[in-house]
Amino acid sequence: MRALRAARRTARPPSRSARRAAVGAGPGPGGPRGAAMVGREKELKIRFAPGRCELVEEDVDIPSRRALITGATGLLGRAVFKEFNENNWNAVGCGYRRAQPRFEQINLLDSVAVHDIIHDFQPHVIVHCAAERRPDVVENQPEAASQLNVAASGNLAKEAAAVGAFLIYISTDYVFDGTSPPYKETDVPNPLNLYGKTKLEGEKVVLENNEGAAVLRIPVLYGEVERLEESAVTVMFDKVQFSNKSANMDHWQQRFPTNVKDVASVCRQLAEKRMLDPSIKGTFHWSGNEQMTKYEMACAIADAFNLPSSHLRPITDCPVVGALRPRNAQLDCSKLEMLGIGQRTPFRAGIKESLWPFLIDKRWRQTVFH
Ligand SMILES: NC(=O)c1ccc[n+]([C@@H]2O[C@H](COP(=O)([O-])OP(=O)(O)OC[C@H]3O[C@@H](n4cnc5c(N)ncnc54)[C@H](OP(=O)(O)O)[C@@H]3O)[C@@H](O)[C@H]2O)c1
Repeated sequence: MRALRAARRTARPPSRSARRAAVGAGPGPGGPRGAAMVGREKELKIRFAPGRCELVEEDVDIPSRRALITGATGLLGRAVFKEFNENNWNAVGCGYRRAQPRFEQINLLDSVAVHDIIHDFQPHVIVHCAAERRPDVVENQPEAASQLNVAASGNLAKEAAAVGAFLIYISTDYVFDGTSPPYKETDVPNPLNLYGKTKLEGEKVVLENNEGAAVLRIPVLYGEVERLEESAVTVMFDKVQFSNKSANMDHWQQRFPTNVKDVASVCRQLAEKRMLDPSIKGTFHWSGNEQMTKYEMACAIADAFNLPSSHLRPITDCPVVGALRPRNAQLDCSKLEMLGIGQRTPFRAGIKESLWPFLIDKRWRQTVFH
């Protein structure tokens, strides 16, 4: 089986990332640091000229710092990949079902594939974004969720330790029960639902297998989405836009919507700090600082797009369907702030940027954006 996989790997044309890895391979984070660039490679680029466009081969510099991003096809992973790629890192993204053609296709449950990519690429940093993050799906498929959120995370941590890579494991505010916010990194977790439990178990196996790793807990995310359903925040947009129909909105759970670009920047800042200071490890919190219920987010979205909100109805009772949620799991972010790490996009600006491609009223789009 292993030989077959190895044969397949060598038989296929070398991917861009593999070529980059081959040029860039060298000492791990503990080793000597050379110049910021380690070489050059050929890359195909599209060049536009009036009336025509052509495909040209150009030399590009290859940064020496290597970052591997799991879940690079997902909401957060896409932003993390972009952030590292645009900031002088040689970034390789992994996905699974949506990987092709842009990213490496790796099933994180396949320990041989994980071993191979980490040992081939020799990353300095791994940002582990892949997970089953939908609480209701986790409740319905607990075994599959546990394999990905716990077992695969533990294995990745072990492989990261073997090559001296700094692993950032993305976790969640749902490790807390939400009864006494704000929560510091040292506060005792008590997850209410299975999703929170698997992510907390994931934290534990990561730190057991890799004592130099970091855990970054974050709350509900929004950002550039491929589909509105990708984020618990953006999914409300159609209910906001279709104002001829009244819509019930949760006004019980207190949330802190956080832009994926901000989390991505925090990951990069944390990685770069760690390259200079090996004591950077352990658990960290990052979060937006605007407290809102889903009803308040929906009203803010309506306000940002100058749409009516009178059809939105606040529901103040604790939701009775689906997995249990914490009432207020606000994260205290002072530990990262003290390190000088952070970035916060105001919610209205961030959500407008994320949602305008999904705006139905094109006339509005034309007046505002052109
Ligand atoms: N979204 C939130 O509101 C939120 C809040 C707090 C914490 N978090 C945490 O943030 C992280 C990122 O969440 P997200 O919203 O970006 O998730 P997401 O959009 O659902 O993306 C999940 C990613 O996991 C990958 N994946 C799934 N099964 C895999 C497998 N067997 N092997 C390899 N990759 C696999 C998916 O790849 P394919 O799609 O290509 O299959 C996808 O890239 C997670 O750790 C989550 O727990 C998220």
